[in-house]
Amino acid sequence: MEPAAVILAAGKGTRMKSNLPKVIHPLCGRPMLGHVLSSVAEAGVTKTVVVVGFGSDQVADFVGNEAKVVIQNEQLGTAHALLQAEQELREYPGNLLVVCGDTPLLRGETLAKLAQEHSESGAAATLLTTEMANPTGYGRVLRTETGDVSRIVEQKDASPEELTVKEINTGVYCFKVPGLFSALKEISPANAQGEFYLTDIVQIFIKKGLKVKAVTLEDAQEVQGINDRIQLAQAEAVMRQRILEGLMVQGVTIMDPGNTYVELGVKVGADTVILPFTFLRGDTEIGNHCVIGPGCKITNCMIGNNNEIQYSVLLDSQIGNDAVIGPYAYVRPGTVLADKVKVGDFVEIKKSHIGRGSKIPHLSYVGDSTIGESVNVGAGTITCNYDGKNKYQTVIEDGAFIGSNTNLVAPVTVGRDAVIAAGSTITKDVPTEALGVARGRQTNHTDWAKKQRKKS
Ligand code: UD1
Ligand code: CA
Repeated sequence: MEPAAVILAAGKGTRMKSNLPKVIHPLCGRPMLGHVLSSVAEAGVTKTVVVVGFGSDQVADFVGNEAKVVIQNEQLGTAHALLQAEQELREYPGNLLVVCGDTPLLRGETLAKLAQEHSESGAAATLLTTEMANPTGYGRVLRTETGDVSRIVEQKDASPEELTVKEINTGVYCFKVPGLFSALKEISPANAQGEFYLTDIVQIFIKKGLKVKAVTLEDAQEVQGINDRIQLAQAEAVMRQRILEGLMVQGVTIMDPGNTYVELGVKVGADTVILPFTFLRGDTEIGNHCVIGPGCKITNCMIGNNNEIQYSVLLDSQIGNDAVIGPYAYVRPGTVLADKVKVGDFVEIKKSHIGRGSKIPHLSYVGDSTIGESVNVGAGTITCNYDGKNKYQTVIEDGAFIGSNTNLVAPVTVGRDAVIAAGSTITKDVPTEALGVARGRQTNHTDWAKKQRKKS
């Protein structure tokens, strides 16, 4: 049977110096706690209890119905925290994994392995331990001469000799449920921090003649706890590298992984190249054979194949295939670009549908518009979509040609294959195949300049 899990996440995270509960601080776009929840789910856990305290509303909001939330009103220590889950788990027929909410790099497969070894050995508790070159701050795992775990001693309670031990307690455990909660109640806060230490359960079990085992983790980085923003940045770098390596393994070229930022869950197709200073965020999918970057920020976009996008910001939009975007384009929410569209330099598009093969190459604002196929929008074209109160639609039908520096005062429709003379301010619909001209006629005053000069 699959294990249940408890995630301890009630601590304030004082060293973060933040109003935000520690476990809600994001790492590669997702709160730390979100990473832990995914790892737990990857390990096959279907019943998870999150113990929250500081900022419990915010944490509970984030958890939603992904897990059961229980509240620890006072943070009296990790044993006390785990006891808050008693009601929820006392009758649970499988084993119980315990993890901290502040170790987002922990992998699901590590938890699965811990749970499996725990089941196989029949121990009452199995600890996940690792060796750290610098174990400062962690609880040290003490062993007997025969190598069995005998005790965990916290940094603040350890003797100088114990402090030299490099094997640390990762704060990740697997327990048998029967006997666990009653043993937790035997723990006393008689220690340097006056807290109920979950780690004291080791000695309690051993005294009862129960087995305590340890599984040793090779990659200590996985259990790096996050206590301050320096560790947050370090973990972010590790997570980022993992995400990028995942993409590279699938055939994505990333020219400079140190300067490329891809959030967890973003999908990128093979033979796409991501150039430096690019941020791919949220629910974004990019197809094959694209060149993205340098300098793009793309959030929640569905992007097809063979697209070229540089120095641009794209939000909540959909891009077909063979598009060329940028440099310096701003594609705002609700935009849909069909295939072979060009959105060039200094062009802003908002909530608009641009048809196949249409081009908006320079210096334009297109908002609340529907543009057909093979339309050419000249430089400096502006859709005047807002009268200060309401937004209005602009429609440009297939094949139309909009001369440079045109204002299209919405609501307005430019018919199929119509032409707008450059510099027009179009306030009335332009019929199919018509030429729309809306500008003052030019008059040239002969020798005007010469006369002016004579006068002065
Ligand atoms: C704990 C372990 C230590 C281990 C380290 C690994 C104990 C006594 N010590 O120490 O052996 O090396 O983790 O990172 O367990 N929490 C609550 N309620 C509380 C106290 C803590 O929910 O009352 C949560 C915190 O939010 C955090 C986790 O438990 O997610 C660990 O607590 P923390 O105070 O960070 O423990 P450490 O001192 O790091
Ligand atoms: Ca910690």
